[in-house]
Amino acid sequence: MDIGELRQMLDRTGQAHVLNFWDELDSEQQRELQAELQALNVEELNVVFRKAMDSFQQAARHEKVDARMEPVPRQVLGSATRDQDQLQAWESEGLLQISQNKVAVLLLAGGQGTRLGVSYPKGMYDVGLLSRKSLFQVQAERILRLQQMAEQRHGGTCTIPWYIMTSGRTMEATRAFFTKHGFFGLRQDDVVFFQQGMLPALSFDGKVILEGKGKVAMAPDGNGGLYRALATHCIVADMERRGVSLVHVYCVDNILVKVADPRFIGFCVQKGADCGAKVVEKTNPTEPVGVVCRVDGVYQVVEYSEISLATAQRRSPDGRLLFNAGNIANHFFTVAFLRDVVEVFESQLQHHVAQKKIPYVDPQGQLVQPDKANGIKMEKFVFDIFRFAKNFVVFEVLREDEFSPLKNADSQDGKDNPTTARHALMSLHHCWVLTAGGHFIDENGSRLPAIPRLKDASDSLIQCEVSPLVSYAGEGLEGLVAGKEFHAPLIIDENGVHELVSNGL
Ligand code: UD1
Repeated sequence: MDIGELRQMLDRTGQAHVLNFWDELDSEQQRELQAELQALNVEELNVVFRKAMDSFQQAARHEKVDARMEPVPRQVLGSATRDQDQLQAWESEGLLQISQNKVAVLLLAGGQGTRLGVSYPKGMYDVGLLSRKSLFQVQAERILRLQQMAEQRHGGTCTIPWYIMTSGRTMEATRAFFTKHGFFGLRQDDVVFFQQGMLPALSFDGKVILEGKGKVAMAPDGNGGLYRALATHCIVADMERRGVSLVHVYCVDNILVKVADPRFIGFCVQKGADCGAKVVEKTNPTEPVGVVCRVDGVYQVVEYSEISLATAQRRSPDGRLLFNAGNIANHFFTVAFLRDVVEVFESQLQHHVAQKKIPYVDPQGQLVQPDKANGIKMEKFVFDIFRFAKNFVVFEVLREDEFSPLKNADSQDGKDNPTTARHALMSLHHCWVLTAGGHFIDENGSRLPAIPRLKDASDSLIQCEVSPLVSYAGEGLEGLVAGKEFHAPLIIDENGVHELVSNGL
């Protein structure tokens, strides 16, 4: 399409303003803008905008979703605490599936990390662990350890392929980081990067927003952009070629994530599920997590922003929150289900509308940072396919074992930030050492109490980090720590047990 044709198309579709500064651009900028605009399907974009706004406005007009919500029924729910007698069977099932190369993990890492305030992919973030490992490294090493556990249990060798969805904003840096770190010991062929789509930010009347005179304001199309990206990059076919039939999908920001958790996988397999969600009990009504529930009889996640406080505060007769299945963005899908989604259901997924402050160039060409929402971003959500599942299940796990997301920078309100993530991991690993029979002592040789006495939790934190290469979930530590006393900070890794102060590491 030459520039004349492009201009005509933009005129026809009501988006001609994006060429307002054309004559001021140099030839390189013109070439880039032209390519960017040609890659956009503007007709489709206008349709998507209308549909998304219609359902957004409809939702605002109609009765809130609250009245139509029901909690997850007990018969689809498995629990890491209430179903203790079955945990071993589920774990064995999961390890068996892993040993047969049937399990893959898929990481959603296309987000922009806006709240954390970093310009690089969140998975590269160093929360200040003793080892200084990034989130990507921790996840990679959990995969390595699980492969080893499955091999030890069932013999042979096995692979858990790792699919990593990035976006235009995160692809290059993510790839470079993995290359720089030698793929953290994984085989390069078993780490598959693919890129999700982007959509332009739009004004409230559907006009494409320019963030520069020659640059459209683009944003990733939400973590539900996964399904379109799976099709575009033939990822389901790649899974089938490798013989994978089960996939664990998760978000990059949870430092405690149990990638390819054999218990979760085993539970879903034994229940014959095609789709499953892992949840933690939501105990605080205002906690910003979505809740898994049924709406009009159909499973879905209702985001924290979509329900009223009164609904969030409703309690069951036992005193627990009625809607307490807190979504931690850990999902299970069979590959057969993903194939149906990609081939049949994806086009039925609606975009959600998020009103945002989007920097834009005004008609004079000045960049403006708005102080209130001036437009929208449109996103699909990964969990919007739950409603297409034939057999949906939910697995409840303990928050302190499995969920500590990194959302905000340290300077914010003290929640879900690098400090809380670091502390969650160290507290868990401290517990592992105690459970395995180890003890911590202070500088005078007195044993430290397992439950800290100090009021300020950060002062009393025992710094302890166990490499995922040594233990995936606390297993296998007895031989290293039972009956022994340690000074913190303590690292347990593939080279042994190290007290950092005493040997000056
Ligand atoms: C998400 C869940 C929410 C859950 C919470 C738990 C969704 C839509 N919401 O909320 O129900 O309670 O996690 O921590 O899943 N991402 C992409 N591409 C995008 C946008 C995001 O890959 O276009 C990835 C991010 O990199 C991240 C994940 O999706 O790994 C979650 O994104 P984020 O925007 O942080 O979701 P939350 O609002 O925190």
